[in-house]
Amino acid sequence: MTAIPLPAALSMVGKTALVTGAASGIGRATALVLAELGARVVICDRSPMDETRDAIEARGAVCSMAHGDLTEDEFIASLFAGEQIHALAHCAGILVGRPWQEDTAWHERFHRVMDVNVRVPLQLAAAAIDHMADRGGGHIALVGSVAGKTGGTSVSTPPDYAASKGAVHTLVKWLSRNAVGRGVLVNAVAPGPVETPMTRGFNLGPTLPMGRIGRAEELAWPIAFLCTPAASYLSGAILDVNGGAFVGP
Ligand code: NAI
Repeated sequence: MTAIPLPAALSMVGKTALVTGAASGIGRATALVLAELGARVVICDRSPMDETRDAIEARGAVCSMAHGDLTEDEFIASLFAGEQIHALAHCAGILVGRPWQEDTAWHERFHRVMDVNVRVPLQLAAAAIDHMADRGGGHIALVGSVAGKTGGTSVSTPPDYAASKGAVHTLVKWLSRNAVGRGVLVNAVAPGPVETPMTRGFNLGPTLPMGRIGRAEELAWPIAFLCTPAASYLSGAILDVNGGAFVGP
């Protein structure tokens, strides 16, 4: 195989990327970066995505919207029933901030968090692997969390969320094993705290080595990288994108 020199290896021209969670935060930023790299972007979320679409189109890129709830099997199937998808960046996820022992709907909440944060990435990635393997291969990037490795950034990190992200890291390994021989590369990022609606109300910056939490685009760059041909020798990797939190100041 001939090596493609940088920056051409980062080009997504002629490729279609599906980005979930694209209405907000990290998913929205990832959709914009993939558009800047030349991808045609299919943005997916259960919330309105008009602002993301407008921002993508303002960059001169082509965008289509897939509006729906990823917990529904038919919706997942519909995402892979049309045009070829070369890359999937799965950024949708939930965190419920209420203290779990005071949550009167704890059992339901636990199952909902596991459903959205664990079952959905498994089913979505499995559908993407079948789709991509039949069409010459592809790239899948999932989003775990520092909470899935350490139990959380503070005592207020919900246990259901931390456990769900630990499960995502395990899924990356399992999916990688099942996909690599079929030409599909599955990897992930494990972000530290990032400035998005999910972290509103937390003041975590001063405790971190850089004195601040991450910006959404600082996650979008590595996630988008995992979707490009430049990530040709990564499979089953989980990139720690946390501003040095595992090392300290
Ligand atoms: P966000 O709350 O800003 O965006 C998440 C998006 O996912 C929302 O637009 C929401 O509508 C969508 N979504 C949730 N459930 C869905 C479903 N069933 N179907 C379709 N769309 C659905 O969150 P943020 O911060 O951008 O998080 C993105 C990912 O990064 C999540 O997986 C999160 O767990 C992870 N993460 C975030 C960190 C942070 O500090 N913000 C830190 C570590 C990981």
